[in-house]
Amino acid sequence: MTMEGVYKLYFGESNIPTPGFIRDAASRAMNEGFTYYTSNAGLASTREALAGYYAAKHGVELDAESEIVVTTSGVQALNVAIRCTLDPGDEALVLTPAWPNGTSIVQMCNATPVQMAQPLERTAAEAVRYTINFDALEAAVTPRTRLLLYTSPSNPLGWVASETEQLRLLEFARRHKLWLLADEVYERLWYDGPALGAVVPSILRYATREDSVIVAQSFSKSYCMTGWRVGWLVARADLAGRARELNEFIISHAPSFGQRAAETALRDGEAFIVRMLEDYRSNRDYCLSVLRELPGVTVPEPSGAFYLFPRIEGLADSFGFCKRLLLETKVGLAPGVAFGAGGEGNVRLCYASERSILEPAMERVARFIRQGGWA
Ligand SMILES: Cc1ncc(COP(=O)(O)O)c(C=O)c1O
Repeated sequence: MTMEGVYKLYFGESNIPTPGFIRDAASRAMNEGFTYYTSNAGLASTREALAGYYAAKHGVELDAESEIVVTTSGVQALNVAIRCTLDPGDEALVLTPAWPNGTSIVQMCNATPVQMAQPLERTAAEAVRYTINFDALEAAVTPRTRLLLYTSPSNPLGWVASETEQLRLLEFARRHKLWLLADEVYERLWYDGPALGAVVPSILRYATREDSVIVAQSFSKSYCMTGWRVGWLVARADLAGRARELNEFIISHAPSFGQRAAETALRDGEAFIVRMLEDYRSNRDYCLSVLRELPGVTVPEPSGAFYLFPRIEGLADSFGFCKRLLLETKVGLAPGVAFGAGGEGNVRLCYASERSILEPAMERVARFIRQGGWA
């Protein structure tokens, strides 16, 4: 973090600033007096805007009053959701490799995360797609299992759950009476949809409002608003009520002007998202083409999010690899081991930066891998 001149591909964010129309909305909101406390569930207007978004994008009707809670980021949505579902001693199934915070929050509840690695389907010639091992999930359920957490689109895999996989997850959760927590913060970053800018179908499309389903969401990734700390969760009304109450003791609510700006993002952000995705897709293809030229590197084409998670043959210490890469070439990647079961042997790179950063960084990564000596 203190080294100068590093190409930072380890972060999960773009170097593109928040669009001007969203920044202007925040300034306007401050000048209009949105500088006071709001309800712990967030401004009524923000929840109404989110309900409108789900109706328009997913065809899902939500009650803004009882089923939506605005949170201070996606990670806070995960935090309150997990705290509301787990007691000490409980177990939570977590699909991995995954952003590590879910697992850590489970541990902070004095509960046990049970990491379930997502297998990679391969043909003889190539790595095709990550899947879910449902047999392993069945075998992992115990009387203390309360929750299943998955992320689609996935950080770091770029995997997007298919309709069949979502229906099976829902059926699995219903049968075992588990909470199903879907981290959908990357739902706008999808490259295989009917059109660029199409939204990944939310688990909410398949669930009823009686189902024990929670969605964790964020403005961070869709609108380049990582530093703003605004997100939301959608859940069955009883859980949303508890999340609203728990919020009081954690952070109470998201900043009021940030919530107003988030409404503008939802209303006016579509063209920005499409432009951003055009760049991300071209960056993804560029980085894939560099990696696929390298000996011993396999990487499936990700369908969503903004990460590549190449597997490097012979790599047994991804942390050591990333440390040497950083010290010797000033390129920062995230070690696969940080993402839990199934992650070692890989590294993660975020391709959301501009080409002026990606191109020199990828050249250095390629040279480092080719020259060997890091295994
Ligand atoms: C899978 C996943 N969920 C949630 C988040 C949290 O995003 P934020 O707290 O910025 O809303 C991230 C951020 O990297 C993420 O990768």
